[in-house]
Amino acid sequence: MNIAVHETKGIFHLYNDKISYLIGILPDGQAGNLYYGKRIHDREEYDYLLEPARRSHSVYMSDESGNELESRGFSAENLRMEYGVFGNGDFREPAVMVRHEDGSRVSCFRYRSYKIMDGKPELEGLPSTYTEDEGEAMTLQLFLEDAVAGLELVLNYTIFAAEGIIARSAFFRNKGTETLVLERAMSMCLDLPDPEYEWIQLSGSWARERHPVTRPLAPGAVSIESLRGHSSHQQNPFIVLKRPTADEKQGEVMGFSLVYSGNFLARAEEDCYEAVRVMMGIHPDGFSWKLEAGESFQTPEAVMVWTDRGLGGMSRIYHDLYRSRLARGYWRDRPRPILCNNWEATYFDFNEEKLLQIAAKARDCGVELFVLDDGWFGARRSDHAGLGDWYANRDILPGGIKGLSEKVEALGMKFGLWFEPEMVNPDSDLYRAHPDWVLSVPGRPRSLSRHQCILDFSRPEVVDHIHDMMYKILKESKISYIKWDMNRSMSECWSAALPADRQGETAHRYILGVYDLYRRLTAEFPMVLFESCAGGGARFDPGMLAYAPQAWCSDDTDAMERVKIQYGTSYCYPISSIGSHVSAVPNHQTGRITPLATRAAAAFFGTYGYELDLNRLSPEEQEQVSAFTAFMKQHREMIQFGDFYRLRSPFEYNESGWMTVSKDKKTALVAGFRELGRPNQGFRRLKLDGLDPDRTYRVTVPACFGGDESQYVVRTGDELMQIGLITSDVLSGRIDMWEQMGQPADFNARIFVLEEMA
Ligand code: DGJ
Repeated sequence: MNIAVHETKGIFHLYNDKISYLIGILPDGQAGNLYYGKRIHDREEYDYLLEPARRSHSVYMSDESGNELESRGFSAENLRMEYGVFGNGDFREPAVMVRHEDGSRVSCFRYRSYKIMDGKPELEGLPSTYTEDEGEAMTLQLFLEDAVAGLELVLNYTIFAAEGIIARSAFFRNKGTETLVLERAMSMCLDLPDPEYEWIQLSGSWARERHPVTRPLAPGAVSIESLRGHSSHQQNPFIVLKRPTADEKQGEVMGFSLVYSGNFLARAEEDCYEAVRVMMGIHPDGFSWKLEAGESFQTPEAVMVWTDRGLGGMSRIYHDLYRSRLARGYWRDRPRPILCNNWEATYFDFNEEKLLQIAAKARDCGVELFVLDDGWFGARRSDHAGLGDWYANRDILPGGIKGLSEKVEALGMKFGLWFEPEMVNPDSDLYRAHPDWVLSVPGRPRSLSRHQCILDFSRPEVVDHIHDMMYKILKESKISYIKWDMNRSMSECWSAALPADRQGETAHRYILGVYDLYRRLTAEFPMVLFESCAGGGARFDPGMLAYAPQAWCSDDTDAMERVKIQYGTSYCYPISSIGSHVSAVPNHQTGRITPLATRAAAAFFGTYGYELDLNRLSPEEQEQVSAFTAFMKQHREMIQFGDFYRLRSPFEYNESGWMTVSKDKKTALVAGFRELGRPNQGFRRLKLDGLDPDRTYRVTVPACFGGDESQYVVRTGDELMQIGLITSDVLSGRIDMWEQMGQPADFNARIFVLEEMA
């Protein structure tokens, strides 16, 4: 890994074994992009990559003294810029727009200097990837300036040593005397020389999050966004550009992921010369940031990954990075406790006795952590009241949270608690005391969602107040885990604490307030495991992962839906981050009845837990649950910290599959899922991945999935990857891997364990 600087030619070459990223200072002093992709040799000059074009109707640029640049080919719209600006003849969508005191929005940032450092500096107030050792990454800071406005722009680039990863962000400082307004400030902008890409986004809705959607680029723009105040169920702040021939295993793929939890925009624009501008950052709609003299603004970080190892290769790069250099704290590298959450077991209908019965049965089945969900506080006996009053309802919990947590610990389990810190019901003591603490525009109707308003987390005193209530409970009770929920989108986003000309800052300041509360609580209670949640997966984003190493993936707990949701989620997010539970049937979201084993098989590939009252299962089912729990304990380290491979997509096939391989390639776990049973099927081969081709593996079906562990087959890694797992073979002569005595044909799952033979 290195950052080579060729000062006379104004070239900055960031490279490691895998990638090169080439920046060139253009003849007028702006920063241009010369190349991003597979590693190339380092050379003194790359002038040939500038490609100025004399095109009719183009607008030509001038140098700092106003002289038209000698070759009339020097036009912003024909060049690949590092951070496109508005108003200078670059007619693509800009990365930055600044409003000046005279009302103009024209900018031009020219190169001034650079700085290179080992490691990676933190972004103030914002979550970001990090290094533990300075040798893991190098950072280039390019200092540019709009001399007319006195506005400094610092473009930050960190290249990691291990893989094709570049983390980017932008920083602005008003060094002049004017008051400036940032109307747009993206985290990254990248101009690519050709449009031969397919764009992939992760889309959906509540209970149907992160389904991959693929489409080719075409002239014009394609974009995804959130204007909901959170990253959203509908779109995820993550996109992929892949070559049309790239697939899971091979081919050129670029990922772009935004480390942010609020409004965002991700966009790719193919221009009329078949060049493509990709950008990602805070959504400019409704956003503005006032910069008085001396003030500054830091954008969130965007993480770009380039690989020629296909979509699977890209995902594993994000998984390793986000699991170990974005998530942090005590739980980062630890297998996650198997939990039982009471939400789908009771909803609001519980008292202490009922909870303890659920907890005791869970304990009997090997569960390690009992989580009390919504409904334990204030007047919260339905979703109409109580949010904001973070003290226990003594009618249902006579000993408070302290008493309940002690009783759960006495059962031999850890205790976890649900909060929704950012919300308030109008019917609450908190609202009655502070009606001006909610986001709303005076004089306009205020929208509710789930009967609740959003607290104005852009105000430090509001964050302090909620912090103090949460701190008290955490301090006095035995709490090992917090589920931090967020159940509505933002509307009427206006803060009573900000002046009119700073209202465009409210949504971002709100997110900074959320991060601040997370930062304080995780520092004060370092052993507590945080799980983020937003009505399921509306904030499954890298910003949250920096504080909460796991996230409730979706409110949809149906196994077949979960296979799809978790498959899509795995494009960017590590398996250790995916909150996944076994729930009751008929499923509460889809009404579907799936076998218990299928529900367990889907939930294994995540943090694993139960979302039902195990007392309601038959004794045989309870035994099965104990066996699944024991199985997960045995394999969770490999599942959560190994390498994940998608084998067959549930969006394309009736029979889908995925697997995890331990980092040392000694063990692996394969899961196959079948949606609908079909009669008289042929043999099935599931081609595996990620194994050592030269090692020999014993393949078994675990007893909890109907197998007999004394019956196994022996295959080499290359056989399993090139020929495939011939499942009838393992299952002693059954024709179809899915035929299993007594199991329904539909919604079936299979698990195979691979162990290296000595
Ligand atoms: C939405 C979450 O996703 C659920 O798991 C549950 O915690 C409810 N909120 C409680 O209101």
